[in-house]
Formats: sequence, structure tokens, C-alpha cells
Amino acid sequence: MATATKSRKSAGDGAVKTFQTKMLIDGKWVDSASGKTFATINPATEEVIAQVAEGDAADVDRAVQAARRAFDSGPWRKADARDRGRMLNRLADLIEANIDELAELETLDNGKPISESRHGDLPLVVDCLRYYAGWADKIHGQTIPVRGRYFCYTRREPVGVAGQIIPWNFPMLMVAWKWGPALAAGCTIVLKPAEQTPLSALRMGELALEAGFPAGVINIVPGFGETAGAAIVAHKGVDKVAFTGSTEVGKIIMRDAAKTLKRVTLELGGKSPNIVFADADLDSAVDGAMLGLFLNQGQCCCAGSRLLVEDKVYDQMVERLAAATTKRKLGDPFDPETQQGPQVDKTQFDKVMGYIDSGKQQGARCVAGGERFGSKGYFIRPTVFADVKDEMTIATEEIFGPVMQVLRFKSIDEVVQRANTTDYGLAAAVWTQDIKKAHTIAEQIRAGTVWLNCYDVFDAAAPFGGFKASGLGRELGEKALDNYTELKTVTVALS
Ligand code: NAI
Ligand code: MG
Repeated sequence: MATATKSRKSAGDGAVKTFQTKMLIDGKWVDSASGKTFATINPATEEVIAQVAEGDAADVDRAVQAARRAFDSGPWRKADARDRGRMLNRLADLIEANIDELAELETLDNGKPISESRHGDLPLVVDCLRYYAGWADKIHGQTIPVRGRYFCYTRREPVGVAGQIIPWNFPMLMVAWKWGPALAAGCTIVLKPAEQTPLSALRMGELALEAGFPAGVINIVPGFGETAGAAIVAHKGVDKVAFTGSTEVGKIIMRDAAKTLKRVTLELGGKSPNIVFADADLDSAVDGAMLGLFLNQGQCCCAGSRLLVEDKVYDQMVERLAAATTKRKLGDPFDPETQQGPQVDKTQFDKVMGYIDSGKQQGARCVAGGERFGSKGYFIRPTVFADVKDEMTIATEEIFGPVMQVLRFKSIDEVVQRANTTDYGLAAAVWTQDIKKAHTIAEQIRAGTVWLNCYDVFDAAAPFGGFKASGLGRELGEKALDNYTELKTVTVALS
């Protein structure tokens, strides 16, 4: 049962009345050792939703010890692989049974429109957990024909205690991406949700206990990055760290994890090129550019924030994008018609407004938006900049907000070279009816994901991750199981 803390007063008051606000350690809901709490805010109203237990190094230590015990000597290690899969399936079923409530909780804490949390994020959460449930009993080794009278085989064993640090942009989906492969592989977990959005992960913890995961298998320590997050990275009892967030913090994590030689996977930022050729179906290209940038208030690591448009259709595209952007419906995220809610917090709001100012100052032409919306909540009007030059700050730095940059190009060689001129390499898209051109660019772009005539198409089975400064390793698909397994070679003398 959820712990009652504060009734909700905001718009959309519905299924969610109570919130779990404690931390989950060794199967129990507990306060932080320090007794400290922090406020989580509704970004649409700027009101406090609840006070949440604030974990630091002492709490992380308790959680790691519980995860260690559960891994080293608990029933989890002895459970049949198939039973791990059944538990993951049960968790998926429980999430599906509570899907309306969970979608509301996500919208309340994060600000994303209810239509997206209910019909986008939540179905992907359920699907991801079911996909990895299916893997639990299919993680096997090989027999190897070595020289001599030896029988040699490999085993894929769980890596151990996985520390997982996640961001606020897709709070529950990031839990699913992290828990699915880790639990299928037989790891135990210490998860730190983002300080902006701790509530849905805690609710998932309640459902995980209901699904039957033994005590200590899943531990959740809400808190801040520099304290709780850093303590996970430093702890000797953690075998592996999986992180999603900023490139800046990713570098810190890689550096600090070196001290204990933890395995590290990183899912970081991007400045993804979205390339529109004159021969594209322009209706689809407009829709794809809008989705690729404005989804989730622009708070997507793979946002198509450099829209490169071929000269011949540039003016027409800018005009159509400006018109479509101006029509987007902003406001109460609980209104089913709303397409854009607030940015997640004041810090992000200020950062994005700063980029809008810099675009104006550096001479980009603002053809839509460009200002705050309303006076309460962290709303920003969806914004389109035309005549953007490669060297402008808005064309080089990750904005993580509803701000689109439209750049002009003339030739295929030029656009490939410019698309690759970035430290990032997370995603890219190409719009053209010419399949040779599409595949040529898919081959030449240095990015982990390339979408051809589509954008933001995600599937639990398809690997996702970055080249270059966008990360290390891949999530989703069979590939993500590697992040949570060690390979052991066993050799037996036969004579
Ligand atoms: P962040 O990288 O600081 O936070 C992400 C997670 O890391 C949070 O759980 C945070 O508590 C934790 N963290 C922060 N510092 C840490 C440390 N020293 N050690 C361990 N854990 C730590 O991202 P933030 O500050 O929320 O957003 C800043 C920018 O990062 C955004 O404007 C955006 O550009 C980018 N970002 C990218 C995301 C992605 O999906 N790739 C998600 C969120 C932010
Ligand atoms: Mg930060």
C-alpha cells in the first residue's frame, strides 16, 4: 500500500491520492538514515506534491549491503531462470492493471501530457518488461572446440549488484529499460531515480514487491546526484553502474567508476541531425520533424534538434513548421487534448530560455514561439529558429527543450559532413524517397540509431545507444543483456 502523505489538489485529480515517499531497502519501506527529505514539485503548478526520503551515502550503503546479500546468498540466485521471467511478467501485468494511475502519477511529477504518459510511456514500460521476461531462460553459453582432450564451455552469469542512475525525462520507462535486462540476467539492483521525478519509480517498487521479487533484489534510494548517485558509483559492493543523463555527469561517472573498476554503461546526450531532402514526402517530413523535436517538451536525448533541409524546399518547410508549431496545444498536462506541458523544473526552464535568448542574439530568425507561456508553471512556447548557422550555440549544444533549429543544405556530401560535425552521435533521421540516398546516409552517419522516413520509433527488441560522446554500450534488445552478464569459461580435462 502507498504511504499517505498529501492529497493532490492539482488539475486532473483522479486515481492518484497517495504517494510512496520512503525508500525501498531490503524489501522494506524506510526513512533515510539522516531523516532528511526533499520536495518533489508539480512543474505545471510549481506546487509541492510530496516530501520524499532523501538518501545519501549511508542509505546507499544499506541498500548495497541488502543487494549484496540477496545476490550472494539469497533465494534469488537459486531461483530457476524461468521463475525470474515469471516475476518480470507479473510485474508487467501489475503495471498494466494500474496503468491509469501510473500514467497520472507520471504526468503529475514530470509534467508530460497525459495522452503521452498513458498511451506512449506506459505501454512501452509494459512491453519492455515482457520482452526481457522472455529472455530470462534464454541466456546461455556455448561449447567451444579447443585443442586437446578438453571439454570447454562458457556460462553467462549475472554481473552482480547493478547500480542504476536514471534521469527525469521518461522516469518509468528508464526504470523498465534498466530493470528488465538486469533482472532477466539475475542481477540485484540499487536504483536511484532522478530527484525531479522520484514518485513513479517508488510506485514501481511497491508493485515489484507485490510481484514477488525477494527482499533485497530491488532497492530504491531517492536522492541527489552528488550525494546518493556518487555514493553508488563509489561503493565497492556495486559491480556495475548503468547511467542515463547528461554527458557531463557521464564523464564523472566513468572517471569515478575506474577506482573500483566497475563495469559502466552510459546513455548520454545528443544533437541529432534530422535531414530532409527535396524529394521527401514533405507532409511526413513535417510531422516527423515536429515529433522528433517537440515530443516530451523537447526533453529527449535523441531529439532531432538540427533539422537540415535541402535548399529547394527550405522556405516552404520553414513556413509549414512555423504554422504547425504555432498550432500546438499547450497547457494543463491532464487535459487529454494537451500536446505540450511544462519543462520539468525551474533549472531546465531557465536553461532553455537562455538558449532561446542566445539564438536571438546570434542572429537566428525566430519564426514561432520564443517566449514563456503563462505566468505559472515552467511552460515555454514551442519555438522554431530559421536561418540557423552551424557555429551558433543553438546548433551545437544540447538544448533539451522545445526549440527547433532549421539549417539549409545543398548537397548530399555537404550534409553528411555537417551532420557528423558534432561530438555527439546518438541518433539521426533522413527523409527522402530515394532508397539509395537513404541507405548511403544511414551508412555514413556516425550515430547509434538512424531512422529512415520515420522518427522516434522505439522497440524493446531494437538496441539503442550512442557513438562518440553520446554514450557507451547499448540498451534494449538482446545486446543489453551483455551489460548485466559476465562470461565464464570452464575447461574440463577428459583424459
Ligand atoms: P544529470 O545528468 O545531472 O542527472 C541525471 C541523473 O544523474 C540524476 O539521477 C542525477 O541525480 C544523477 N547525477 C547527477 N550528478 C551525479 C553525480 N555526480 N554522480 C552520480 N549521479 C549523478 O542531468 P540533469 O542535471 O537533470 O540535466 C542536465 C542536462 O542533462 C539536461 O539539460 C540535458 O541536456 C541532459 N540530460 C540528458 C538526458 C538523457 O536522456 N540523455 C536526461 C536528462 C538530462
Ligand atoms: Mg545535474
